Amino acid sequence: MKNNPLPRLDTDDNVRNKLLPYCRLKPGEIWADPISGHKVGCLDAINSSEIEQLMSGEYAQLAVHDPPYNLIAFQERTIAEFISWCKKWVENSWLWLDENSALYIWLGADQKDNFQPLPDFMIMMRGFGFKPRSFIAMRNQRGYGTQKNWMAVRQELLYYVKGSPHFEVQYTDIPKILRGYYKTVNGQTTENLERSKSDNIRASNVWVDIQQVFYRMEENVSGCYAQKPLKSIERIINASSKQGDLVIDFFAHSGTTLLASEIKKRRCFTIDIDPVYCEISIRRLELFRQKGRLGWQNGHPFEKELPSQNNGHQLTPQNEQKQENHNQPIQAKLL
Ligand SMILES: C[S@@+](CC[C@H](N)C(=O)[O-])C[C@H]1O[C@@H](n2cnc3c(N)ncnc32)[C@H](O)[C@@H]1O
Repeated sequence: MKNNPLPRLDTDDNVRNKLLPYCRLKPGEIWADPISGHKVGCLDAINSSEIEQLMSGEYAQLAVHDPPYNLIAFQERTIAEFISWCKKWVENSWLWLDENSALYIWLGADQKDNFQPLPDFMIMMRGFGFKPRSFIAMRNQRGYGTQKNWMAVRQELLYYVKGSPHFEVQYTDIPKILRGYYKTVNGQTTENLERSKSDNIRASNVWVDIQQVFYRMEENVSGCYAQKPLKSIERIINASSKQGDLVIDFFAHSGTTLLASEIKKRRCFTIDIDPVYCEISIRRLELFRQKGRLGWQNGHPFEKELPSQNNGHQLTPQNEQKQENHNQPIQAKLL
């Protein structure tokens, strides 16, 4: 198996600096996609005039945000500072979301530090006109923890609405196997499988059927440390938007929302404050269009410019272990 990944870019400034000259966007600039009408901006989520420029008078039907939120991202910030930072990008979302729209936010709860920032964030959200609709937990396959605690495998996802947006029930790939739930409606008694609209189980507010991204998966984008599974974003897009709708994501990183929007025929306006992640997002979209691929698995987006990151070693069981930690979500502080 090919073994030419980028190191985690948040921990390797040397490689990050080598990539910067190849990034087509500088801070403040916006790339407009000539094919599907997407936009990628190297912008700051809390800068309201930059967001106004990005939106250029359009309103989105769906926002999917995945902000950085723990010590890795904000070593110097207190929880109060973090929440007031969040308030600013939520305000920007409120301004540019349609009167009937959905807002999804990935957030974590640090069990070693009063579950922050999740409860503080939820309380802050009460100050907005958004209505809470669901509190989803997505199950990671690999967790972290010790023998003295429950293994931590949750990824929290908050679902809010503005007005009364479209929502379409989603089904998992898991077949229904349990029978025997009888119900009488208008004098007719039926068993649950007879009443079902699908042979598969409906997606609920606990998602156990989505594989966490790791280096062996085609969709893996090496260098990124917090990539969400494409399937999770596709599920959100399918449930809470229609074809042709506009989706926004203020924290692009590996460009998952951009790619999912392309696949599902929505338009996406996405930004990242870092030119390297903007470039990765655009290249991921271009790779999909050229080769139908979802990521670089164990290669990387800058292979033409930086051909070898590891002197051409093949992936062996010995160095596989090193790769295991790649793409641990930013939430997961490994013990
Ligand atoms: C947790 S990652 C998002 C992961 C993304 N959902 C994915 O699947 O790849 C957060 C991203 O937010 C970016 N970011 C941090 N502060 C930002 C800001 N003020 N404005 C825009 N982007 C920011 C970081 O550079 C990072 O790439």
